[in-house]
Order: sequence, then structure tokens, then C-alpha cells
Amino acid sequence: MGFFKEEDLKKGSVRLGDDGCSVVILDQTKLPMHQEYLTLRTKEEFYDAIKILAVRGAPAIGICAGYAMYVLSLSRRDLPYREFAAGMKADGEYINSSRPTAVNLSWAIRRQSAVIDAGEGKTVPEVIELLGKEAVAIHREDIEMCGRISENGLSLVKPGDGILTHCNAGPMATSKYGTAIGPMLLGKERGIEFKVFADETRPLLQGARLTSYELERAGVDVTLICDNMASMVMKNGWVQACFVGCDRIAANGDTANKIGTSGVAILAKHYGIPFYTLGPTSTIDMNCPTGDDIKIELRDPEEIKNLWYSEPMALPETKCFNPSFDVTDHSLITAIVTDKGIVRPPFDVNLKKLFG
Ligand code: MRU
Repeated sequence: MGFFKEEDLKKGSVRLGDDGCSVVILDQTKLPMHQEYLTLRTKEEFYDAIKILAVRGAPAIGICAGYAMYVLSLSRRDLPYREFAAGMKADGEYINSSRPTAVNLSWAIRRQSAVIDAGEGKTVPEVIELLGKEAVAIHREDIEMCGRISENGLSLVKPGDGILTHCNAGPMATSKYGTAIGPMLLGKERGIEFKVFADETRPLLQGARLTSYELERAGVDVTLICDNMASMVMKNGWVQACFVGCDRIAANGDTANKIGTSGVAILAKHYGIPFYTLGPTSTIDMNCPTGDDIKIELRDPEEIKNLWYSEPMALPETKCFNPSFDVTDHSLITAIVTDKGIVRPPFDVNLKKLFG
């Protein structure tokens, strides 16, 4: 442990409310122009906040789900254990159904379910206390993991390098530093400068609204580009590495991340630029053999046709396909940068080693 500071639990985009029975999140749908917070207490509020991307980014969703399970347990304090456990299981399944692709959601809920299962024989208030501790542990571990990922990522680039990133894998999507933009933020702290190109990331514009915002605020040199400009920026020789986050890494190294990531990887291969996926070990799903086994979330066509415009940009009857993620084939990934080290191909062999 080295990156974690106690006060970090009170900062960041997700935290336990000061009343101790709510979760406070930074509403990421309102950025960059409005910094607003939401207080979540009910299972419906947790479900909706995750679904609409008020809280988003695989690790941040996991942290939110960990706290959600604790907060929801508080109203069941007086129930007998069996009823308590059955209610918590139902709430966990409901929240887990809000978004299917990022594994951290089910991972955090599974961790809390394991606490409940192991609590049989204890009093319900004792189990609730353990759920609170586990939620904090999930949060705390993520801060540590992001710090170590950032450190490992930093070792792959040199001062002045151009780095292209897609979507948002910064502090808002995690706990602190982030994954894909963690090396740039950690570098900045140490006086190392990079030139970052942030893809705007259609259709929800996480790159424009969140990544360029976080980097700008941190004083990192960032240039916002539309997704279809990445090829030109690479061809110009302005990019020495691509750093992207991940929502689920399969056992063979295939990686789901924001839609458009696989296109960036294909371009990077064409131009001979190393392509790095950065993510915590909590995002590696060894029970998922390949990318074909990852469920890809399909979202509302209105996000493409309507969301950002004063009037619709397509006819109401126009068919839309709006997958939220795509899978980057492992053959396109130079290395997977984790908190436990930098994993290089063959990923099917080397990812296993991380889990001993
Ligand atoms: O739909 P989102 O905004 O939740 O998608 C987020 C991403 O794809 C991120 O790159 C990924 O979760 C990694 S965040 C550290």
C-alpha cells in the first residue's frame, strides 16, 4: 500500500454519504459545464444512476455497487438472517441487471454476497458492519490498484510522447488517477509532460466531456479530436502510444471497452504504434474464455439521433445500432497493464500467472 490516503475515501466521484446511509456520486451526465452531485439511497436510484451513466466507468460502477449493497442492508437491520439474505440477493441481482458489460459491477456484488453468505450464524447487525468494511475495502483497493497501474503505465512512455486515449478512464471512472489516463496524471505530479489526444468518443462523448475536462483541470496538454481524426493524428507521427481502459478482459486477452476502441487498435497496428490496455485485476474475468463470451450492452437509439442536438439528426423511423462497447482482439494489444504488472502475449498463459 502506498497510493492510498484516508481522505481519498471522501474525494472522487463516488463516496459514502456523510449521513452514513447514502451514496453520493458526481453526476457525470452533467459535466463538463455543471458539477452536480446525486444522493442515492434506494435500489431504484442505484439502478438508474448506473443505467444512465451518472456513475460510469467499470471500477467506479464497482465501487458504487459495493456501497449500494451496504446502504441497502441498513434498512433490513431488524430482519431475521434468512429474510435479510434473500432481500439482499434480490437487490444485488436487480442492480447487477443495470449494465451487463463491465465485470466490476457483478464482481463487487459477488464480493458483498460472499460476505452475506459467510455471515450465516452471525447477527444481522454484525453482517451489516462487515458489508460496510467490504465496501470500503473495494474502494481502497481500487485507489491502490489505479496508483500501481499508473506507475506501470508511466514506465512505457517517455517525456514528451504523444498518447492517444479513447473514452474516459480517469479518476472519475475509478477512484483516483484512473487507469488509461493515470500515467499522464501521475507523470504531471512528477513534472513529466505528455501530449494527449482525446477521442471525443461518440455517441456519449466521454472523451470530450470527461477526459479532456480531467486533463485540462490537471494542467496536462490535451487536444480533443473527433473519433474519425485518430488516423490522421497517427499518420502525422504525433502518437507514440495508445492507452485505453477496459470493461472486461477475457482469459485470452480479448478486451471489451467503449465502442470504437477496436478501431483505434486496428489503426495503431497499421501505423506501428504500441496499443496498451490498462485495467485493474478486478476487470479480468478468468471465467470468460474469449471476447465472444462478453455480453455487449445495446443502448437507446435516441443517444445517436437526438441526445446532443436541438432537433433530431435522423428521422424517427431510421434504424439505429447503438452498441456501447466493442471487443479488441488480443492480437492487437501490445500489453495489458495491470496493478500486478505488465502482461505481454501470450495472454492466455500470462494472465493466468497473475492469479497464481
Ligand atoms: O459506458 P462507460 O462510460 O461506462 O464506458 C467506460 C469505458 O469504456 C471505460 O474505458 C472503462 O470502463 C474503463 S474505466 C477505468
